[in-house]
Amino acid sequence: MKLLQGTAQITSSGHLEIGGVSATELAARYGTPLYIMDEAFIRKNCRAWQQAVGNHGKVAYASKAFCTLAMCRLVDQEGLSLDVVSGGELATALAANFPAERIYFNGNNKSLEEIELAVRSNVGRVIVDNFYELEMLEQTAARFKRPVSILLRICPGVEAHTHEYVQTGQLDSKFGFTLDNGQAMSAVKVALTKPHLYLRGMQCHIGSQIFALDGFAAAGKTMISFLADIKKATGVILSELDMGGGLGIKYLPEDNPAQVKDLVQTVVRSVQMACATNNFPVPQLVFEPGRSIVGPPGWVIYRVGARKEIPGIRTYVAVDGGMADNPRPALYGSRYSALVANKANAALEETVTIAGKCCESGDILIKDITLPRLEPGDILAIPSAGAYQFSMASNYNRLCRPAVVFVRDGEAHVVVERESMADLFRHDLIPKAWEKQQERLRVAR
Ligand code: LLP
Repeated sequence: MKLLQGTAQITSSGHLEIGGVSATELAARYGTPLYIMDEAFIRKNCRAWQQAVGNHGKVAYASKAFCTLAMCRLVDQEGLSLDVVSGGELATALAANFPAERIYFNGNNKSLEEIELAVRSNVGRVIVDNFYELEMLEQTAARFKRPVSILLRICPGVEAHTHEYVQTGQLDSKFGFTLDNGQAMSAVKVALTKPHLYLRGMQCHIGSQIFALDGFAAAGKTMISFLADIKKATGVILSELDMGGGLGIKYLPEDNPAQVKDLVQTVVRSVQMACATNNFPVPQLVFEPGRSIVGPPGWVIYRVGARKEIPGIRTYVAVDGGMADNPRPALYGSRYSALVANKANAALEETVTIAGKCCESGDILIKDITLPRLEPGDILAIPSAGAYQFSMASNYNRLCRPAVVFVRDGEAHVVVERESMADLFRHDLIPKAWEKQQERLRVAR
């Protein structure tokens, strides 16, 4: 079964087409590996989130999933807010003219430079993660004479059912102020004494690639009862509750993630019920979806190369990318599906393992997948590749990071150019002092 979502389809000649553009043609035009983003599908996902959240609150796209100038511009065009987690993401958003007041600045160890950039550019909300940051932000806001609106990142002690590395809400977590041991309440009290910081509300994020909605409901309930406790302890009624991101997506045809509207409804209901129980006014909600907006619309295509058959054991087929452009299988054991873009309707003939080209045995993109017979030059296409692939890509083995194209209505636009070999050592230097030494060596020889 093939995973075709958004505008992706297989033509009668068996070619994969995304946004009305043939993937094989894109490979010929722009080279491989190549990230292809289905623009209409990204916009559709933005709108689905906006529509589901409606007047319950706001949607802030989590740019860590995929952050480029064009993506920030698209998010602005669609009217969403933006969640950034570093000076680099913030600078990208600002360079794309993204309105600073719609930016949420997350992160557990913001540097002074990052905090200064946030304060100077008047970002809408800084989500304060710890006491160190709280002090640094107050001092910076005072120095620039700019009041800053903040949320506090709370660790609600809720375990999401997902991979351990992408769980964040559990008690033993590096993120946020812990609720259970009173640290979160202390943070609220400290924050309320800061003259340049306006405490607007709380934030939590329980994890990523989550299918079961009960964790979100539990987090909503816990957070409302905390807001009610804050009211009791300080008399202050906070009106914003940011629930983070985390909605899972379909990587394999058999995956069955929840719909955006079901997640939002689940949270809204649990929040409303908890508010009624605690006699607390329903706050404005914020959602920070990343993967569910850009994951399904993204594809990555590779050119097939070498094959190694180990009779009775396994056949490896290697492609011209791997863990450098997609570290997720090696890092989290993530599983993917694939199809052959230039012969998508051909009969499934063999079970192979798709290997990358990095010098590591662990550089396997897909273990045991049944596909048509793969020949050198075939184009292998992996769906649901839009989130945390380009943004986590590296130059390991000095591989050039691939280009990114947006496709829509039969047109393709490069939004990130492929790196060149020269880019790889653009920032390298040879110590000046070695020049003399080299001269001496030459003379000596
Ligand atoms: N908000 C906060 C505070 C977050 O930490 C994250 C993700 C999000 C929102 C967006 O979550 P999403 O809707 O995309 O699940 N690299 C991993 C995922 C790490 C997620 C980190 N935080 C992966 O490739 O699966």
